[in-house]
Amino acid sequence: MSASAFQRCIHPHCAATVDLGDTSFQCPKCGGLLDVAYDWNRLPVPKSLKHFESKWANRNNPLDFSGVWRFRELFPFAADDQILTIGEGQTLCQKADAVGQFAGMKPGCLYLQYEGMNPSGSFKDNGMTAAFTHALSVGARRAACASTGNTSASLAIYCAASQQMRAVIFIGSGKISYGKLSQALEHGALTLQIAGDFDDALRRVQEVSKQLGIYLVNSINPFRLEGQKSIMFRMLEALNWEVPDWVVVPGGNLGNTSAFGNAFIQLLELGLITKAPRIAVINAAGADTFYQLYEKNGVRWNGGAPDGRKIGVYMKYLDDADKRADTLASAIEINRPVNLPKALRALDRCGGVVREVTDGEMLDAKAKIGAGGLGCEPASATTVAAVLKLVREGVIDPGERVVCILTAHLLKDPTATVAYHSSDPKMFEEILGKRGVRRASYANKAVQVPNQLDAIVQAIEVYA
Ligand code: F0G
Repeated sequence: MSASAFQRCIHPHCAATVDLGDTSFQCPKCGGLLDVAYDWNRLPVPKSLKHFESKWANRNNPLDFSGVWRFRELFPFAADDQILTIGEGQTLCQKADAVGQFAGMKPGCLYLQYEGMNPSGSFKDNGMTAAFTHALSVGARRAACASTGNTSASLAIYCAASQQMRAVIFIGSGKISYGKLSQALEHGALTLQIAGDFDDALRRVQEVSKQLGIYLVNSINPFRLEGQKSIMFRMLEALNWEVPDWVVVPGGNLGNTSAFGNAFIQLLELGLITKAPRIAVINAAGADTFYQLYEKNGVRWNGGAPDGRKIGVYMKYLDDADKRADTLASAIEINRPVNLPKALRALDRCGGVVREVTDGEMLDAKAKIGAGGLGCEPASATTVAAVLKLVREGVIDPGERVVCILTAHLLKDPTATVAYHSSDPKMFEEILGKRGVRRASYANKAVQVPNQLDAIVQAIEVYA
């Protein structure tokens, strides 16, 4: 492990430091979250971001092939021979004019960063390779997470690839899509279905990991967030190192938001960029704690001392009303985001906003993203749905450059998609209607045809 890396409490008034190999992921002094920090006086600082392009010439080295570890000089906590990579991060950031038109943007202004191309089909692999590398370096034998499905799929795949670690995953009962569950099972994870939701499972996994000394890979693990910074490095690379005006990201446990904030804070501090983009974090309306706290209650980072009273009052309201997160975007069906303080810091440094979108709005946006040629799961589509809103509000100018992060692949969670396009009103009602979705404005319904040549030919002539 690097002698120039360590862990540090995120709160400037505490700033306690913790050994790199510590796996409690909690400040011993104040109980706060930790960052991975580096002593840049003892480490080489890349002279410019362009420097990373030369790595492409070295693609037979698996570390340079990885879209995460190509940038390892910006998170140098592990020695090269400790790194476990399975080729994560080969993802695309591309202009999407048809989707941009739907969202009210001018041609050439909306980009989609498609993280569905990762080995497990979601952005989680960017962070899992980093957490896993740390886990191996401290000699862990078992790794655990609570998950709405994608973290567990990613953990399961890395455990299987390592052939030396066992995955233990906690999922809320009935809360995980088949696509994601199938990955956990197929890759050999011990899968515990907890009677409760994600928030319950996350509390439990922290308790159990501590008791049994199991390595925790949920996003309170700061090493995961180090890997997820690379999503922003690749985005900048795709834009020829020009910083966009906005990055739009779904908000669940707020790990990505925090990692993106850290990426820009670091690049500014190292003098590798001169301005940060603004960040828009998007909640589902049925799981909107961050929106409520940030936009409705005015909770801010406040120099490292967010208003604990306001947060406490809101959390007590959730408890007293037994208010459970409830959205078709099961990936972000989370009411108690563990990275809240880090996300507040990210929005403070990046001039952020938070919005919420309904399940109907996100499914319409998802259909438009799909029609534009990229398939994503419902949570990812909150981003485009929110751009439409923010343009209408006048917060985003249609001529600004906006990058939406599509966090996972369409096939992760096909149930809502099939129901959206279904011509069966019973199915629509059962899956979408009872969650408040009234119509599917961009449904592409299957056409029923008798098994007769003439009828089939006629249907094609009429519809295609
Ligand atoms: N999009 C997808 C597809 C996700 O799976 C998640 C989180 C998010 C967005 C939200 O990201 O937590 O960094 O704000 N899924 C986690 C899981 C919670 O268990 O797979 P975040």
